[in-house]
Amino acid sequence: MARLDNKVALITGAGSGMGRAASLLFAQEGAKVVVADFNEENGKKVVEEIKAQGGQAAFVFADVSKAEYCKGAVDFTIETYGKIDVVFCCAGIAQKAGMIWELDESEFDKVMAVNTKSSWLMAKYSALELKKNHGSLILIGSTAAIRPRATQGLYGACKAANNNLAIGLAAELAPEARCNCINPGPTATPMLPTFVQAYNDQVADEIAGGTLLKRLVDPMDIANAALFFASDESRSITGVSILVDAGADKARGKN
Ligand SMILES: NC(=O)c1ccc[n+]([C@@H]2O[C@H](COP(=O)([O-])OP(=O)(O)OC[C@H]3O[C@@H](n4cnc5c(N)ncnc54)[C@H](O)[C@@H]3O)[C@@H](O)[C@H]2O)c1
Repeated sequence: MARLDNKVALITGAGSGMGRAASLLFAQEGAKVVVADFNEENGKKVVEEIKAQGGQAAFVFADVSKAEYCKGAVDFTIETYGKIDVVFCCAGIAQKAGMIWELDESEFDKVMAVNTKSSWLMAKYSALELKKNHGSLILIGSTAAIRPRATQGLYGACKAANNNLAIGLAAELAPEARCNCINPGPTATPMLPTFVQAYNDQVADEIAGGTLLKRLVDPMDIANAALFFASDESRSITGVSILVDAGADKARGKN
């Protein structure tokens, strides 16, 4: 028996990076997957990849910064597959790098909406369905939630909010359903180059060298953590955050 047999999963930001990896892995483990993204081309490609590997998946267009699309993604999943067992809120964006005095208020609104309000909205519209099905809600943070950096303080604040939200939601979803948060370190996805100036192979090696394990995190490493939280193997775990960062956070203690 596969680890997500008979489960239905809704994954946001599923057209790329970690969300794509989780979509492919969840489908391999028997889940029916709804791929939600505002990049329609990428999202539909992921659905085709899942079907090509023998899985079941459907695409829904969703801009997760807006309530109507979050509700729409939840409704679509229930209409298409009859229920929801797992919601993985993986969509996110980097902030424009800059000192606080250089950034406009609109940057705060945009980054907060995509990275944090989206988690709250997805939880709001799926919570009762997850409770009904003894489901699992998974949020995404970052090592920046724990150690924010200059020029990235807004991004860190969004991700810290998701860690805190996971604890509050765990209390609200209990005792039927669960909520946990994954904090990725530097992960080899299309987002990584947007965190640094002039990204190239040498910069990638330097970032990897700054971790205890001397490697970038692979999107599949995040997918595996999400699979654990999605499956019944983590049935006694709620309200926690897990770092999947190749030891990036701990490496500071070694230097
Ligand atoms: N890559 C890293 O190093 C890293 C580190 C820590 C945390 N994270 C977080 O992990 C998550 C996944 O990032 P990734 O690295 O896979 O990035 P990615 O850019 O590869 O994927 C992000 C996906 O989110 C989608 N998206 C963005 N805004 C959206 C919106 N408003 N509505 C719907 N979809 C939207 C994009 O279209 C894309 O498919 C993000 O929340 C990110 O902040 C990434």
